[in-house]
Amino acid sequence: MADIKGRIALVTGAAQGIGRAIAQELADAGAVLALADVNEAKLLETTAEFTAAGVTAAPFVINVSSEESIEAGAKAVLAHYGKVEILVNNAGITRDNLVLRMKKADWDLVIGINLTGSFLITQALLPAMLKNRWGRIVNIASVVGRAGQAGQVNYSASKAGLLGFTKSLAREVASRGITVNAIAPGFIETPMTAVLTEQQNTSMLATIPLGRRGTAQDVARAVKFLASEDASYITGHTLDVNGGMFMD
Ligand code: NAI
Repeated sequence: MADIKGRIALVTGAAQGIGRAIAQELADAGAVLALADVNEAKLLETTAEFTAAGVTAAPFVINVSSEESIEAGAKAVLAHYGKVEILVNNAGITRDNLVLRMKKADWDLVIGINLTGSFLITQALLPAMLKNRWGRIVNIASVVGRAGQAGQVNYSASKAGLLGFTKSLAREVASRGITVNAIAPGFIETPMTAVLTEQQNTSMLATIPLGRRGTAQDVARAVKFLASEDASYITGHTLDVNGGMFMD
């Protein structure tokens, strides 16, 4: 995958979990990294590990739920690297509850980070990408945005929204050499899912034909593919990485 060698890639939520694995996979293919996260301590630790391993990586503390933070962060990234060629909108959270018990604050927070955050950071970095006439945007959605999940109306609405966002944006920017795709991961082993109970784990596993949880690397490899020249004729697509948990 030498065709992304030297490409500048920004990953949000890169300090841990799937975002970190995406950054690793892109770096292994030669990309230069802009690592963005709201958790400054973890971000600096992760960046130090990348640079110690010989990867060109710089940290940017960005809170995707804040317009000011995104504006300042995008400016800092562009001042540092001049452009962003691969943007991975990965930062995301859950605040689960049944609909009747869900607080509006938890609805707003999840939509604000998972959906509005992706919109705002894309908007901030798109002008430079359009000028570059080459770009890859990969949005990390979820199987829950495809199939729904009791207790997650906020999360599934944010992820389903991201799929619509992906398709509309793909149409807007296709003529400028930019592809926009989404990945819908299934049940992936990360700190986000480590909080599930034994019972939730067992019942979730029973729904996966391939019989195992996915790894962050399973998702990261799909991102690398969509960022590569091999995927240059694919846009507006949602790639399921879910072990067969949901089939369209
Ligand atoms: P995680 O909780 O392990 O990592 C998320 C990262 O995003 C953390 O480093 C966190 O500090 C950062 N983050 C959170 N809020 C932020 C904000 N406002 N601004 C900037 N950074 C922020 O989560 P995980 O599992 O790695 O998830 C990554 C993405 O994959 C999320 O969008 C999630 O919805 C999605 N996903 C995860 C699945 C799973 O099974 N773990 C399944 C399907 C989708």
